[in-house]
Amino acid sequence: MAENISFTMIKPDGVRNGHIGSILKMITDAGFRIVALKFTRMSADKAGKFYDVHKERPFYGELIEFMTSGPIVAAVLEKDNAVEEFRNLIGATNPAEAAEGTIRKLYATSIGENAVHGADSDENAQREASFHFARSEWYDKDGKCMG
Ligand code: RTP
Ligand code: MG
Repeated sequence: MAENISFTMIKPDGVRNGHIGSILKMITDAGFRIVALKFTRMSADKAGKFYDVHKERPFYGELIEFMTSGPIVAAVLEKDNAVEEFRNLIGATNPAEAAEGTIRKLYATSIGENAVHGADSDENAQREASFHFARSEWYDKDGKCMG
């Protein structure tokens, strides 16, 4: 089983603004291996469950509306220390506070429409990955199906 896993989504704004290729290039250039990859649109029900942790937050409704407003790219990523390394690559939630060279600094337009999602713990990475992918959609570094 892959251990050093993070989960990401290129959010609807990133897709809409034409940044899928650039963002995936930044991800692979930073040394992440793509384990699973999918272009899909979340239903309100699915997005609601995905973001269940935020349901008491004031921006929850807006977040669900935004995340279901168009297709996303979902991916499982592998690298040593994947969760922390990926959070470093994407930068702060608010692009105004994101470090130079991060994905959000380059491609996010606001705190809500911030181009990418990154899992915030190993546990959540596994939970979120299993939300979008069956194990039969995961591939190891030799190209062998992990399901
Ligand atoms: P993400 O989960 O998408 O990687 O983002 P994050 O950890 O940096 O931020 P989090 O606190 O988990 O918030 C999830 C997403 O909700 C939207 N948000 N809007 N309007 C607001 O004040 C606000 N705060 C958060 C963002 O899309 C954020 O990425
Ligand atoms: Mg988060």
